[in-house]
This record gives sequence, structure tokens and C-alpha cells, in this order.
Amino acid sequence: MDIQRVGIVGAGLMGSGIAEVCAHVGYDTLVREVNDELAAKGMERIDQSMQTAVQRGKLSQADLEAARSRIRATTRLEDFADRDLVIEAAVENLDLKKEVFAQLDHICPAHAILASNTSSIPIIQLAVATRRPDKVLGIHFFNPVPVMKLVELIRTLTTSDETLQTARAFGERLGKRMIVSKDRAGFIVNYLLVPYLLDAIHMLEQGFATKEDIDVGMMLGTSYPMGPFTLLDFVGLDTTLHIADVFFEAFKEPRFAAPTLLRQMVAAGWYGRKSGRGFYNYQAGERPPR
Ligand code: CAA
Repeated sequence: MDIQRVGIVGAGLMGSGIAEVCAHVGYDTLVREVNDELAAKGMERIDQSMQTAVQRGKLSQADLEAARSRIRATTRLEDFADRDLVIEAAVENLDLKKEVFAQLDHICPAHAILASNTSSIPIIQLAVATRRPDKVLGIHFFNPVPVMKLVELIRTLTTSDETLQTARAFGERLGKRMIVSKDRAGFIVNYLLVPYLLDAIHMLEQGFATKEDIDVGMMLGTSYPMGPFTLLDFVGLDTTLHIADVFFEAFKEPRFAAPTLLRQMVAAGWYGRKSGRGFYNYQAGERPPR
């Protein structure tokens, strides 16, 4: 199947990034948010990221304008009636996602593939909310979407070979490298990444080393682009806690149990960069080591 028209549900950090990369490579891209204000905020985020790409010499002004003309925003899911592929990037709430998939199933053409960018919810639960479980899979992007080269494709028990092939061709057109995972919490990357981040918090809780030394250790000792605390602040402590809790529920393994410090920081509203304070206190001028 040849995908031409893509729909994205949600214009948050991930949804707007996915919309941006789709428009860059020529897809007719429609993004849906729940209200005009959030839709405008999403489009603003896309504009800013495209401007950054121009400033960094990754994109010409002409290509920016062409890509921008291919993206539209809507508040109506009904506008997805002509989409070939829809990627849901809404908040991580199972009931809400199931409802979105059931609605998309009624709205979208019979040939359309319905995908989720979830990092924690079992895709099969979304597949069975539709009458086309063979055409449902996970397409999991990484933040920041325009920069990160990886996409995980998640194949459920019911995903057809054709759906997987079409998703692979879509990802290749985006210039991403794809890996395929079965439908299990964490897929490949987060299954390994989340316990590592939680271990770093345990190490800090135990007073074993400073956050700066742990960050520098992993950056210079393993060539990770960011140390674990810088990455935790970047991903969001609330997001990390939510993912850890979902994984713990799924596996009941201590490696996924959220440290007390993480839970308390989230309770205090220290979500990371987005709230001005996480492990580093950005609003007080503190910056992670580089
Ligand atoms: N569009 C296109 N390119 C852009 C861009 C944009 N909006 N913004 C930056 N870039 C490019 C830059 O030009 C630069 O390219 P070169 O290397 O070719 O020069 C590159 O991206 C890096 O950008 P910067 O120099 O501004 O920043 P940096 O070197 O400090 O890197 C970073 C920033 C890419 C975020 C890097 O620190 C990094 O890779 N961090 C780790 C991110 C990570 O692990 N993400 C995954 C999180 S987990 C997740 O997402 C899954 C989940 O489910 C929770």
C-alpha cells in the first residue's frame, strides 16, 4: 500500500515532531488536537523546530516553506476520513487511546493503518478496540523526533505482514532506522533504558556519588550524549515515573520499581526541564555538565 496522507492524533512534543518529519519528506500531514489553543501551540512547536533546522544548516528556507505548506491542524477527528495512515500520539491513558482507536476505525478508510506511538501501553489492547486488528501496530519514535534516527515497530499477535511492510517503507522514507519488537512493555529500548535510569537514581539516593559525577561518568565513559540525570530531566520525571509504574505492573520485577526519590520529586512538581526543575534546578541557573 502506498501511503500519501498521514494523520497524527496529538500535537504535543512527540505528535508535533512526527508531523514535522512526515511533512519534510512530502506526506500530506494533518494533526489533530483537542482544542484550537493546543493545535496552535503544536504548530508553533513545529515552526520553531523547522527554524532551528534552518539555522543549523539542515534545511533550506525553500524546503521549510514547502514542508510547512504540507501540514494542517484540525480539532476534528472526522477530518481523518481520507488518511492512509494515522499515528496516535495522545497522552498515555489506556481508556482514552482505546476510544480514539474505536473512533478512528469508524472514520478512516478500510485500507488505513492505525498506529500508536505509545511507549508503555500494549498495542493489542488498541488493536482489539477496532475491527481491523491486522492493520494496527506500534510505531514508536524517540525524542527529539527530527534528530533521533530510530523507530521501533511493534508487531502484535494480529498485525499482518503487509501492515508491517508498509510501516517499514513509511519509516524508511522518513530516513529512520527501524527495529522490530514484539508487543511487550518497554519494547527494546525502554526495557533496557528505564532500569538504567532508575539505577542511577538509586545510586544518588545511596549517596554513592554526585549527580554531576554520575552524568560525566556515563557521558565520557560510554559516549552517551547525555548522562542519566540530564536525560531524566529531558524525558520528564513524571513520564519516567509513569513508565516505570506501568512496567512494574507488567513484570513485577524489582528492576522496574520506582525509587522513593523519583516519586517524591514528581509529587513536588519537579518534572525536569519542562517545569524548570528536576535533578538540576534550571530556574536557579543550574546546568548539567557537558
Ligand atoms: N531539526 C533538525 N536537526 C536538528 C534540530 C532540529 N530541530 N535540532 C538540532 N538538530 C541537529 C543539530 O544540527 C545537530 O546535528 P549535527 O550533529 O549534525 O551537528 C544535532 O541535531 C544535535 O543537536 P545540538 O547540537 O543542538 O544538541 P546536542 O549535541 O546537545 O544534542 C540531543 C541534543 C540530540 C538531544 C542529544 O543530547 C541526545 O541525543 N540526547 C539523548 C536523547 C535521547 O536519549 N532521547 C531518547 C529519550 S527516550 C524516548 O524518547 C523514548 C521514550 O519512550 C521515553
